[in-house]
Amino acid sequence: MFAVMFKNSIWYNLHETESTNSFLHEKLMSEKLPEGSVVTADYQTKGRGQRGSSWQSEAGKNLLMSIVVYPEFLKVTEAFMLSKCVALAACDLLSVYSNKVQIKWPNDILIDGKKVAGILIENILRGSEIYASIVGIGINFNQQLFEKELYAATSVFMDTGFKADTQINAVKLHENIEVNYQMLQQKKFAEIDQLYLSHLYKLNETALFKDADGQFQGKIKGLSSMGLLIVERENGEKHLYDVKEIALIR
Ligand code: BTN
Repeated sequence: MFAVMFKNSIWYNLHETESTNSFLHEKLMSEKLPEGSVVTADYQTKGRGQRGSSWQSEAGKNLLMSIVVYPEFLKVTEAFMLSKCVALAACDLLSVYSNKVQIKWPNDILIDGKKVAGILIENILRGSEIYASIVGIGINFNQQLFEKELYAATSVFMDTGFKADTQINAVKLHENIEVNYQMLQQKKFAEIDQLYLSHLYKLNETALFKDADGQFQGKIKGLSSMGLLIVERENGEKHLYDVKEIALIR
């Protein structure tokens, strides 16, 4: 599909910045950047992750990128659709290197069950409307060592032995996001949902979860229209979870 939505986008390629998301945020405080404008960096001194975590990435090894979009056509309740589009764009990019790419709800990207990329979308609201969304993506391409964390991390190089050019991948990812963003603007929600589910890690597979009441076995059955996770317990009961309420252990 040919998309022209980001045709006026401006690119900032930085050697070092605190966080590419923060950089765009600051810029947007003083000017309205063209839609699709991008910042990439070789290194972030204060890279940010989901739920207040930090995002660590060795200098010059990985893709660190943020893009601004203005999805005024989306209701706040539909905001998760943007997250799905970005996750799918990252999957398409990584599918060139591996056929084991999946999305772990809500938007971690895995290769062979290990986290290879993370997405942090920050919405700037005007009243109750989304004025702008800053879409931040970190993809591990060439890093080979990761600090021990709760989840296993990987990189494209660790999985495939292939050293990729991060800047070429930034351009490709930008194109993929533009194509999916056009699909979003056309409100092709059913198509986006179907693609997202086809990539969803552990869909319909028995897995071990943890919620406020402890660990339990269950199966992911899909997502609600608001993006909540639907998990079926062994007794057949289905529960809806927000991201802070459940962890998928294995
Ligand atoms: C996660 O916790 O999985 C989300 C990580 C998002 C990291 C990216 S790297 C580029 C952009 N700038 C940031 O500070 N964070 C995002």
